[in-house]
Amino acid sequence: MLITSRDDGYIHPVSSEITPQGVYLQRRELIRLMAGGLAGAALASWAARDARAQPRLALAGAKSAVSGATTVEKITEYKDVTSYNNFYEFGMDKSDPARNAHTLKTSPWTVAVEGLVKKPANYALEDLLKLSAQEERIYRLRCVEGWSMVIPWVGYSLSELIKKVEPLGSAKYVEFVTQADRKTMPYVGTRVLDWPYVEGLRMDEAMHPLTLLAFGLYGEVLPKQNGAPLRLVVPWKYGFKSGKSLVKIRFTDKEPMTAWHQAAPQEYGFYSNVNPGVDHPRWSQASERRIGEDGLFAKRRKTLMFNGYEAQVGQLYAGMDLKKYY
Ligand code: MTE
Repeated sequence: MLITSRDDGYIHPVSSEITPQGVYLQRRELIRLMAGGLAGAALASWAARDARAQPRLALAGAKSAVSGATTVEKITEYKDVTSYNNFYEFGMDKSDPARNAHTLKTSPWTVAVEGLVKKPANYALEDLLKLSAQEERIYRLRCVEGWSMVIPWVGYSLSELIKKVEPLGSAKYVEFVTQADRKTMPYVGTRVLDWPYVEGLRMDEAMHPLTLLAFGLYGEVLPKQNGAPLRLVVPWKYGFKSGKSLVKIRFTDKEPMTAWHQAAPQEYGFYSNVNPGVDHPRWSQASERRIGEDGLFAKRRKTLMFNGYEAQVGQLYAGMDLKKYY
């Protein structure tokens, strides 16, 4: 299946091409329910089900316009997107999250917005879902470990939420705190990381339209192993910047201490922009393996600066030494 990219950095599919027709039509139905304020009920019924059965409920997602054709990439298959994961709260093997994340309770769910903002608030998930129009965006996700996927996310720009809470002028960074519940997340409490898993962005990065608050993928609610019920997706940064199962968004004047930087400061910096010219201390970052393209003859792809989003985000780092600010 072919998808096209226009020069704003989004890769736009024709939604009906990437989603089985039945699911696609279900999604249109959910958009209709949302318009009528009934989506909460649909979401609640989804949340109540056992994740092991992997209910695939459609999530609202507006069809994106397609214009221009500069990139042709194949979307990673749903089964790969949902079975090859990093979610250390559920284990360290790539197959662990799909096997273990069924214990995550995603309802009720609230996200606290606090710190240097005029309007701190506790948002119920249902209210966040309705806060802005959801759209489908196809982004590459490039992991620091050297693999990548192309995923049709559903959500809206984080900036929509940020504008609503009105950060103070003193807010320079945003900290993202994720769920850390020992009862439902078997590896929280192990010494792998200092829990909760925390990520951070500079304010201009958080406000960038590409930075997505994602509630779904493939037109459906996020599977638990992918960070249900909501996560961040920052496509020009290594995958670990995209915190899963967010519970708190805090505005601050200091650079947040992030989980991976705390665990291994020499290896994982605050910025973590995808950069083929700056190697990880233990391996090259110049190329990547596309998940789903395994096999004897599968070629590694060249990793692109800022994961291919340089035209959109390069300016954010003008004048910065990216070897120092890795
Ligand atoms: N978020 C939490 N809470 N815990 C994690 O272990 N792993 C990160 C990121 N977000 C992680 C997380 C890493 S290393 C990657 S590569 C991406 O999630 C993987 O997202 P995916 O499993 O949906 O591909």
